[in-house]
Amino acid sequence: MPQSIEFTLNGRPARVEVAETELLLDVLRGPLGLSGARFGCGAGQCGACAVLVDGASVFACATEIGAVAGCAVTTVEGLGTPQAPHPLQAAFLELQAGQCGYCLSGILLGAKALLDANPDPTRAEIAQALDGHLCRCGVHNRVLDAVALAARRLREEASA
Ligand code: FES
Ligand code: FES
Repeated sequence: MPQSIEFTLNGRPARVEVAETELLLDVLRGPLGLSGARFGCGAGQCGACAVLVDGASVFACATEIGAVAGCAVTTVEGLGTPQAPHPLQAAFLELQAGQCGYCLSGILLGAKALLDANPDPTRAEIAQALDGHLCRCGVHNRVLDAVALAARRLREEASA
C-alpha cells in the first residue's frame, strides 16, 4: 500500500508515494531518478549502494524507504559538482583512485562518514571504515591514499 514518505534528500525536501517496505536504493534510482547509488550485490555485501542517512553510511539495498522518513539522506549527487567537487572527489580524481568507478559512489560516502567523525584517521582506520566496500578493479591502495589526502586538505581548510 503506497504511503507518502517525506525526508530530506541532498539538502532539499523530498516526498515519495511508495510502500514503506520499498528499498531505498530502488526509490532513489527509480522515482527519484538518482543513479549515483549503484546496485551491486543487492545483499548488503559490497557497498556500491551506500548513501548517508543522518550522516551515517548505510547500504541502500538493505534499507527500507520507511526507515528514512524524516531523515537527511545524502547521495553522491549531493556531495559535490564537477565545477565544485568535494575534497574527497578532488583527491580521488587527482590520484586516479578508480578504474571503472562502479564502487566509487559508495566509497566516497563511506569515506565522508569516516572523516566527519574522525578528521585525522590512520591508514588502518581508513581501511577498516571502508572494509565493507568491494572494488573489483583492485584500486584499494589508491583509495586509501586519496582519503588520506582529502583528510589532510580538510584539516588544513578547517585550521586556515
Ligand atoms: S548493492 Fe548494496 S551492498 Fe551491494
Ligand atoms: S574502480 Fe571498478 S569497482 Fe572499484
